[in-house]
Amino acid sequence: MVQYVETAIVAASEHVAPTLWLIHLEAPQIASNVGPGQFVMVRCADPEYPTFDPYLPRAFFVFAADRAAGRLSVLVERRGRGTVWLCDRQSGDHVRVFGPAGRGVRLARLTRHLLLLADGPIAVAGLALLASESARRGASVTLVENIAAGGGVPPHLLHPDIEYRGTSPEAGGLLGELPGLLPWADEVVIAAPESLLETVSSLRRARHEPFTLYGNVPIQALPLACTSATSTTSTLAETGSSDRRGGGDYLPCGTGTCGACVVATRSGEHLFCREGPAFPLEALRFEHVADEEDVDAADGDRVD
Ligand SMILES: Cc1cc2nc3c(=O)[nH]c(=O)nc-3n(C[C@H](O)[C@H](O)[C@H](O)COP(=O)(O)OP(=O)(O)OC[C@H]3O[C@@H](n4cnc5c(N)ncnc54)[C@H](O)[C@@H]3O)c2cc1C
Ligand code: FES
Repeated sequence: MVQYVETAIVAASEHVAPTLWLIHLEAPQIASNVGPGQFVMVRCADPEYPTFDPYLPRAFFVFAADRAAGRLSVLVERRGRGTVWLCDRQSGDHVRVFGPAGRGVRLARLTRHLLLLADGPIAVAGLALLASESARRGASVTLVENIAAGGGVPPHLLHPDIEYRGTSPEAGGLLGELPGLLPWADEVVIAAPESLLETVSSLRRARHEPFTLYGNVPIQALPLACTSATSTTSTLAETGSSDRRGGGDYLPCGTGTCGACVVATRSGEHLFCREGPAFPLEALRFEHVADEEDVDAADGDRVD
């Protein structure tokens, strides 16, 4: 649930990749209360000149936060009117920000080897704060990005102790990295479209490779409907598929009132912006899952 509304000051804006900007905002209340995986809503219009275009705020994961300095950073992929406006902000400009939204990502247990799988830059943005905070408390963190056509997130933007690996669909994508990394990991977090989450889930349920021996590793999933404007993973618009739930290519309210972000789980429907963004992989309910699976939905699958 959104807790604060602030008129943030743009501390700096960095053009870090062809389509990516890192915007640093002075927003002390939100910065000092944000946790890994939470996001902010940004009104992409000058706060001093109210306008109806664009009318609705845009959502951005908090990529980094310096609580002591009262600063947070968002990694913005330049796509349409809202993000173009935001990427064009200069130091000293004002931006209206609401947040933090969502419950964030909480690791299931004290994790020493954390594997993060991200499908594109928005997914990396959703995992970056989790990665840096875990690395700071001494965990070994490996983050794998499936690099979209527009290019990957520059690794130097991440905490220096994070091992960053890039992959691509041609190289086997995130699934191709799993066999080598799963034996090492004691917790996995995947930010990806539903189709990929469904594949991982069914491989694990069937105890197929790479889950023959490692099926019990806890996996949390961030269902992202659209991971990048230049994603190599198909989006709803392109395919008409069911990859449309959780966080992604729609305009969320971020406050739990519009219902646009419903995530179907085996214990009922939940809101990405309130209970998310992360859900235990085994709790997610996919369209193609056999009905019998609902019958034996265990207590352990429940999303609190
Ligand atoms: C939880 C969450 C976290 C996100 N985190 C990030 C992040 O960290 N970094 C990042 O780059 N992106 C992130 N995104 C995606 C980002 O919010 C979108 O890329 C952004 O909304 C694009 O806005 P735009 O105005 O630039 O694009 P547009 O394409 O202009 O608009 C975005 C959406 O608004 C719709 N829309 C446009 N006009 C209207 C209208 N008048 N009425 C209704 N709908 C309209 C479009 O169909 C499109 O779906 C996140 C999304 C979610 C849900
Ligand atoms: S975006 Fe979650 S209810 Fe509106």
